[in-house]
Formats: sequence, C-alpha cells, structure tokens
Amino acid sequence: MTALLSRHLPRGVKAATFGILAASTLVVSSACSSGDDGGSGDGETVVVKVKDMEFDPASVTIKPGDTVKWEWEASLPHDVVSDDDAPEAYNSELITEGEYSYTYEEAGTYGYHCTPHPTMTGEVIVEE
Ligand code: CO
Repeated sequence: MTALLSRHLPRGVKAATFGILAASTLVVSSACSSGDDGGSGDGETVVVKVKDMEFDPASVTIKPGDTVKWEWEASLPHDVVSDDDAPEAYNSELITEGEYSYTYEEAGTYGYHCTPHPTMTGEVIVEE
C-alpha cells in the first residue's frame, strides 16, 4: 500500500499526510490528561446493556447522584426514552452501538422505553 502510494503521489503529499497524523495523535493524548478527582461527583455508575428487544437488567436501584450508563450490544437501532410520567425527561439517540449516560439527582421511579419497540421497557429506582 505504501509503495503503491509513493509511486503515484509526489513527496510533498506524503509528508503532509504524516503531519496530519502526528497532529491528531497529540489531540487524543491531551484529551486524556484529566485530574485524579474521580470524575464528576461522588456517585457510582451502573451499567445497563441495550440488547435487541431488552434492557439488561431491566430494573436497577441506585442512590441519588448515581449514574446509569447504557451500553449498546445490538444489531437493531434502539433508544432510551423516559416515560411520560417519569419525574424527569431524558433521551438518547436512536442507535445500534455506543453508550448513553444519565445522572439521577432526585429520588423516584423513572420508567423508560425504546421508541420503536413498546415492549422494550426498563426502570431506574432512585432511593435515598
Ligand atoms: Co428497541
């Protein structure tokens, strides 16, 4: 691949490409240099897997200030959308991979669902 490229591209183009790579590497490494304060707040993070047609686990119980992080392990697009009667409204994008996090500050029961799949439901119980 490299040999093929150098045969068709002038020397200056190749040098410019390496310059771009070096610059983006610098950006990535500086983004990781955060402090050691353990992140935002003292809350814990609980992971819920977003699978095809189910949230796993479908019910989690946390404390105020804790965060739920949904991690997609799906082949179909799903989202996380708070139910109409949930104490707060929040929603993720409709995606097949990635993650979404929400921090719950107030006690209560927060039902949520996936928009394309009404039977795909879950709840977050926030207890003092
Ligand atoms: Co779904």
